[in-house]
Amino acid sequence: MAMTREDNELLTRVENGAPMGEMIRQHYWLPAIPASKLEAGGRPYRVRLLGTNLVAFRNTAGVVGVMDELCPHRKASLALGRNADEGLRCIYHGWKLDVHGSVVEAPNHVGDQAQFCKHVRVNRYGVREAGGIVWVWLGKGETPARFPDLPFIDLPDDQRSVTSVEVPTNWVQGVEASMDSSHVGVLHESTTQMTAGGGNQRLLMTKALAPRLEFEDRPYGYRYAALRPTPEGQLYARINNFVMPWYGIICPPHPGGPSTVFFSTPVDDVTHRAWFVHFNTSSRLGMTIMSASPDVWNFPPLPPGPAADNWGQNRDLMRRGHSTGFPQHLGTEDFAMFLSQGPIVDRSDEQLCSADGAVLRVRAALLRTVREYQAGKTPTLADSPDLDYRAIRSVGIVMPPDADWRQMAEAA
Ligand code: FES
Ligand SMILES: [Fe+2]
Repeated sequence: MAMTREDNELLTRVENGAPMGEMIRQHYWLPAIPASKLEAGGRPYRVRLLGTNLVAFRNTAGVVGVMDELCPHRKASLALGRNADEGLRCIYHGWKLDVHGSVVEAPNHVGDQAQFCKHVRVNRYGVREAGGIVWVWLGKGETPARFPDLPFIDLPDDQRSVTSVEVPTNWVQGVEASMDSSHVGVLHESTTQMTAGGGNQRLLMTKALAPRLEFEDRPYGYRYAALRPTPEGQLYARINNFVMPWYGIICPPHPGGPSTVFFSTPVDDVTHRAWFVHFNTSSRLGMTIMSASPDVWNFPPLPPGPAADNWGQNRDLMRRGHSTGFPQHLGTEDFAMFLSQGPIVDRSDEQLCSADGAVLRVRAALLRTVREYQAGKTPTLADSPDLDYRAIRSVGIVMPPDADWRQMAEAA
């Protein structure tokens, strides 16, 4: 059933007091910047989240701070500030802020500086460095949202890679794609062939385009199994998890391989940041396309051309057999689809099919959560006693055709 325009607005908009943006501020931590971008005493970075401009820096003692981008004095950008002596100093009149955003020096004020600084109003945000990412909580009150300590958070750095890139479309298009199993064998047919070794079970996916999907609600969202028959008469079950509000945790391509977490975080209504975390809970990740990327804050590449040039699609390559003409990266293929859908896709005019159950459940979970928030409740999926982020597992299993994937998943 197509969505109403009103629901589509409620689902997608996050700026200027939109309910979804306010709900996320209050009840979820936002990934802000890869921790490796911030060097002690190094340059600050501008970070935009939910339409709010922030600045992130690591002070000379190694502690990370995230605060409003504009100086509380006369609103010059602190992204231009000098990072020294455990603080960020505005280059306009020299006010100095600590990692909590508090003004600690106002050298152009004549009089009792300490007293003056105490009364400068600032917004304070929760900041946490974990899992190779700097996170921020933008909510109100003393008790921050529950932290999403997902399975990649506590791993050593060499078992995880974190990259991300800003994409000029609404965030929900990205979140939907992370759970949209049936596009993988089509859109990524060539990139999968190029990166998958022989025996890679993902190759099976290109041979059976319409998996049977089975769903199970979980305290954090839901999980599903995409079930495909194997040539040997077994069933290949790929069990993936959707974790509110934007995490798609995808099972490894083969046993012992790396899992992937995709997340699409809202920069503003028409921009999102696409994050790719690869992790292996049992061994080092080694060198991958992601970990070798020259800039973890700007990878994978966006489509190379403008809309008028079909975003740089390479038709010659397609004639030679490439399925999309976007050979740069699997992510580039996804981004081309998002861009072609437009800044905010019109979900009132879609014609969905049986493969779209996972996408519909993403929308339903987000809408249910924002409606609970509007009704003044703590959203069920944001904080329940059974919610255990650490226990979430996405696995691929080859099993007998009559076995129950839920039991097999517990044993895997
Ligand atoms: S604007 Fe920053 S110190 Fe004046
Ligand atoms: Fe994709």
